[in-house]
Amino acid sequence: MEKSIVEWYRSAGTRALTLRARDLCAAYHGRDILLRGLIEFSNFCTRNCLYCGIRRNNQHVHRYRLSDYQIKAAVRRGFKRGLRTFVLQSGEDPGFGDERLKALIGWIKSYTRGRAAVTLSVGTLSKQRYAELFKAGADRYLIRFETSDPQLHQYLRDGSTLERRLAAIRDLQEIGYMTGTGYMVGLPGETEETRIENALLCYRLQADMLGIGPFIPHLHTPLRDAPCEPLELTLRATALVRLLLPKSHIPATTATGSLEPEGREQAIMAGANVLMPNITPSNRKKDYLLYPGKICLEERGVQGIGELASRIMPLERTLSFDIGGAL
Ligand code: 5AD
Ligand code: SF4
Repeated sequence: MEKSIVEWYRSAGTRALTLRARDLCAAYHGRDILLRGLIEFSNFCTRNCLYCGIRRNNQHVHRYRLSDYQIKAAVRRGFKRGLRTFVLQSGEDPGFGDERLKALIGWIKSYTRGRAAVTLSVGTLSKQRYAELFKAGADRYLIRFETSDPQLHQYLRDGSTLERRLAAIRDLQEIGYMTGTGYMVGLPGETEETRIENALLCYRLQADMLGIGPFIPHLHTPLRDAPCEPLELTLRATALVRLLLPKSHIPATTATGSLEPEGREQAIMAGANVLMPNITPSNRKKDYLLYPGKICLEERGVQGIGELASRIMPLERTLSFDIGGAL
């Protein structure tokens, strides 16, 4: 089954590919575009991924941690505006503390009376820490494998192996998290075969969510001079993953929208069914710069949601305020 999809993908034009993925997405998910409110709560990171703007060695970054008050205020505003999933994202920041994170998870669950999902995206941790955070109430976890090529992975992630990343994904799935993974498209050193293998790895992992976005070179990283591939590659990747995993949730990612003004709309028209409005306090969003040109920097908190609604109207899609969990 997956082999025949890949064979077809190889020869299909982008228009035919995205049309088929869009139809399949509509058959499984209807017109609904699910929303997840993203809170970037700390940009400290002990890792040094070559592609990432907040890597440890980037001295130009103004590092911050949000206060509990700021995080709770973002959740309150988001919940009142109808958001039912909150994604807490950070670099790998040992300084934040699991106890504090667990207390925040518990607070969100109790403030929303269990009517909102908590998604974590805080990196590669031990199975025990994942289990404790799950026990504290976290429902979902996002952790991309970034690239399926083991050598490239280890090089771009500064010595950290693909094997370790996949073990983390397995741990999360075993514990019972709804798990999201994914990868970047257009990394230097990747080939079309890597991209196909990336999609097949998503299929093998049978993840609940799959985030796919273009690699965008950042000036203050070792990959500053790497080429930035056209959006079409990301659209083809999105469509292929949709064809392989019709039930999964696929966001039209911020990076896709940052590469081209209508990138997210095009991703929705290639099979994506999720948008992630960024509800980080507006004065901090600019410091969480994984790549340049990040959109939404000017929007204030939940205001971006109204804009998203009008953006997707012409696509015959509507925003869904559903919790949107199980496949
Ligand atoms: N371009 C695009 N995406 C990036 N990410 C990190 N750096 C970049 C970049 N330069 C992505 C990674 C990470 C996610 C949070 O952001 O895939 O998992
Ligand atoms: Fe840290 Fe994640 Fe950036 Fe790597 S991609 S440097 S782990 S924030």
